[in-house]
Parts: sequence; structure tokens; C-alpha cells
Amino acid sequence: MLDVTIDSNQPVDGFYAELASSAAALVDGEPDAIANMANIAALIWQYVPDINWAGFYRVVDDELVLGPFQGKTACIRIAIGAGVCGTAAATAAVQRVADVHAFPGHIACDAESRSELVIPIISQGRVIAVLDLDSPLPDRFRAEDEAGLCRLVAAISDSLG
Ligand code: SME
Repeated sequence: MLDVTIDSNQPVDGFYAELASSAAALVDGEPDAIANMANIAALIWQYVPDINWAGFYRVVDDELVLGPFQGKTACIRIAIGAGVCGTAAATAAVQRVADVHAFPGHIACDAESRSELVIPIISQGRVIAVLDLDSPLPDRFRAEDEAGLCRLVAAISDSLG
């Protein structure tokens, strides 16, 4: 199933339920993590409103390395513990940042980014990557966006490692 159509204007619960099931269908039966990350980044980019970057950083040799994404070119390597992505990787905790300018050490890949959501991807008990979404709007990501995207990540994390 590669044809995906999702109504981005429906209530947010239903939207993220559809996004998660579409994500699960896209990775179903495909073992290549990079291919799966590429399609998930494209899915999020197409349907999640008001974002200017969506993609992955992978944990490679104890640092984060840029993975498949949509949006402007981005910094390639981020130390574990640095910036929003590195903090998510170091703590294995979601980072939902309403104002990136107020986040100590935020790494500005795109000067237009104002808020950010980073979800650690855990497989077999360790952080293998992070999913990063940026928005040009302040406070774009709400608790329901975090819950919905965590649900998506949980549905596909075994296909990303
Ligand atoms: N802002 C991130 C860096 C990655 S870009 O947003 C794509 C950070 O502080 O880790």
C-alpha cells in the first residue's frame, strides 16, 4: 500500500490515528531502515501542517548523523547531549520546545524555525535514532501532537533499526 490519502483538517486524534496506520502500512515487510525513514519523513512532511523540517538523525558511533528528511539542508553531525536532538537522544525523553530560542544550546539549522518536537526512537532498549520536526510557528506542537507522533513512532520503531 503506497498510495496514502489523509485528511489533515479532521480532529487531531483521528488525524494522528490515520497517520500512524499509514506509517505502519508503508514500512510493513520492508527491512531497510533508511528506506523506511525516507518514506516516513515524506509522509509527515506531506500531511502534518505548519512544519518546515521533518526527518531523522541516526545514532552512529555515539553521535547523531543526519538521516532521511524533508526540508532545507541541515547540520550533519550532532553530539549526543547537544541541542534539542542530542538532548532527546541522551535522555531518551521527548523534547517539546515551544520556543527554540529559549532552549540552551539549540542548534539553528534553519533561522526560520521557532518551535521543535524531537521524539527518541528506541529499539531493543536503546536509542537508535530521533525523529525531529521543526515549525516556523512558535508553540506549534501541543500535547496531542506529541502523543500522536509518539504513537506513530511506537508503531514503526522496529522497522527503523
Ligand atoms: N534544532 C536541532 C538541530 C536539527 S535541525 O532542527 C534539523 C537541535 O537543536 O538539535
